[in-house]
Amino acid sequence: MNEGQPLFDADFEQRFETLLRWRRDVRHFAPRPIAEQDMAHILAQAALSPSVGNSQPWRFVRLRSPGIREALARHVDEQNARAAQRYAGQEREGEYLTLKLHGIAEAPEILAVFCDEQTPTGHGLGIATMPEMLRYSCVTAIHTLWLAARIRGIGIGWVSILDPEAVTAMLDVPAHWSLIALLCIGYPDADSYTPELERRGWQAREPLAERLFER
Ligand SMILES: Cc1cc2nc3c(=O)[nH]c(=O)nc-3n(C[C@H](O)[C@H](O)[C@H](O)COP(=O)(O)O)c2cc1C
Repeated sequence: MNEGQPLFDADFEQRFETLLRWRRDVRHFAPRPIAEQDMAHILAQAALSPSVGNSQPWRFVRLRSPGIREALARHVDEQNARAAQRYAGQEREGEYLTLKLHGIAEAPEILAVFCDEQTPTGHGLGIATMPEMLRYSCVTAIHTLWLAARIRGIGIGWVSILDPEAVTAMLDVPAHWSLIALLCIGYPDADSYTPELERRGWQAREPLAERLFER
């Protein structure tokens, strides 16, 4: 069945490229709440993402409890301090300690994304040899969410310096859900076309030619 192809004209293409260039991982948030309809909208758009077997294994947990938020922030601070030890005595130690690696205390919204490893949806299609495809499907939803949020001026920061088991326990979800991401969501303090880690001299984007191979 051909339902007709929507028109994505040159102007749309250019704006899409701008969105991709401007997206940014955001760590510094303005104290401005996100409207309920914006949260609903970006989550609904994320749910349009592709998934193996159409399994839609993403499970979004919106944090409402100030107590859990505090515990999460404390946990990530502890894990950051541990991770810093990796750089002890090295050139990057000072830089690591000044990087802002999460905004859990300040972000107006915290969203945890889990993968339901036992979802019956999709009837197991496509995961016989690579069950991790369920988790990759959740990542597609996160990226869609990221772009959908950014179109509305909302930023997202992906926090991964954490112990997934500890965070899963704090959020009290079913045992067969695995943590994919902890996301800080809010309006950015500032916008930039350059990743913060590049601006800070930690790691720049590298040429695509170095990432592209032919066989
Ligand atoms: C899977 C994933 C995990 C990430 N985890 C962290 C993190 O724990 N701390 C952090 O500061 N940034 C984290 N980031 C953000 C990256 O540092 C950021 O995407 C990268 O520097 C490129 O910057 P940009 O997203 O602004 O283009 C993560 C990004 C991804 C995709």
